[in-house]
Amino acid sequence: MAPRKPSATPALGVYPKTRMRRNRYDVWTRRMVAENSLSAADLIWPIFVREGKGTREPVDSMPGVNRLTVDLLAGAVSEARDLGIPCVALFPVIDPALKTEDGDEAVNPGNLVCRAIAEIKKSVPDIGVLCDVALDPFTTHGHDGLVRDGYVVNDETVEVLCRQALVQAQAGCDVIAPSDMMDGRVGAIRTALDQAGFQNVRIMSYAAKYNSGFYGPFRDALGSKAGTVGGKDKGTYQMDPANSDEALREVALDLEEGADMVMVKPGMPYLDIVRRVKESFGVPTFAYQVSGEYAMLKGAIERGWLDGNRVILEAMMSFKRAGANGVLTYFAVDVAKRLKAG
Ligand code: PBG
Repeated sequence: MAPRKPSATPALGVYPKTRMRRNRYDVWTRRMVAENSLSAADLIWPIFVREGKGTREPVDSMPGVNRLTVDLLAGAVSEARDLGIPCVALFPVIDPALKTEDGDEAVNPGNLVCRAIAEIKKSVPDIGVLCDVALDPFTTHGHDGLVRDGYVVNDETVEVLCRQALVQAQAGCDVIAPSDMMDGRVGAIRTALDQAGFQNVRIMSYAAKYNSGFYGPFRDALGSKAGTVGGKDKGTYQMDPANSDEALREVALDLEEGADMVMVKPGMPYLDIVRRVKESFGVPTFAYQVSGEYAMLKGAIERGWLDGNRVILEAMMSFKRAGANGVLTYFAVDVAKRLKAG
C-alpha cells in the first residue's frame, strides 16, 4: 500500500484547542459572528385585490391573508411602507363574469389591477409596485396563456403579454414580473416597454418557476384552478421539479433578454436552485415563498405544532443563507413587525 500523503490543508485545530461552542457563548458573540441578517428591505409583500368597497375577505386556505378592496389598499400599503417594506406585489381576483377563454380583461387599461396600481401610486408613491404578467387570473380555464387545440400556445400568448405589460406600466407599475413561463417573453416585453417610453420600468422574471403543487391556496384565492383544458396542468410550460440545470438555462436566457432581476419559485423546496442561480450569475435573485408554504407554516402554527415566534424568521433566514436578495412572502408584514420589535 502506498504511504498516505499528509493533507495539503492543515487541520484548523483540534479539540480541545478548537471549541466551536465558544463563539456561541453569549448573545452578543452570536450576533457578532452571524453570517447573514434579515431586514425589512428583504421583503416583498404579495396582496390579493378584489372588487367592492370596504371589504377584507379572508382566504380560507391562507389564514391571516385577505382579499382587499381597492379602497383599503392605501391603509394596508402605507403600513407596509412605514414598516420599511420596499415593494408590494398585486394579484387581482377577477370577477368570474369578466373571465373569458382568451383573458381579454388582462389588457383592459381600466381593469382591477390597473386601478389598484393607480391607487397605490397616488396614495403611497414611495413604495414599489410589482405586477404579474400572465393570463391566469383572467382566463376561464385558469391557464397562463392562450389555449389552442388543448395546448397553451407560446408566440400568440407573448403578444398578449406585451399588451398586458404595457397597460400595467401605463397605470404606474414599477416592476413587471412575467410569471407565465412562455419562451421569449422577457425580450418581447422589454422591447414593448422601451418602444412605449418605459425604459425605467424594471423586469423581475419568474425565471425558474416550477410546476408545483404548492400554488394550491393561491389558486383558491384567485379562483383560478387550472386543469379544465383536457385535464392538463401547467406542466407544458412550467418547469419539472426534477430539474436543476434547466433552471440555469432559463435564468441565462431571461438575463440575455433583459431581465433586471430573477426569481425562483416556489421557495423553501427550491433553495438549492436559489443558491445555484446566485452563484452562477451574481444578479439580484429573489425567492417566492408561495401560498402553500405559507399555509403549511401557518396551519401548523395555528394548531400549536410549530412556534411562530421561531419558524417564521427561521424560514426567512433560510432564503438569505441560500443567497436570495429578497423574498416574496405573505408573512412580509408579520416579519417586518417582528424585526421592528427586535
Ligand atoms: C400566476 C401565478 C401563480 C403564482 C404566482 N403567479 C400561480 C400559478 O402559476 O399557477 C403562485 C403564487 C403562490 O402560490 O403564492 N402565474
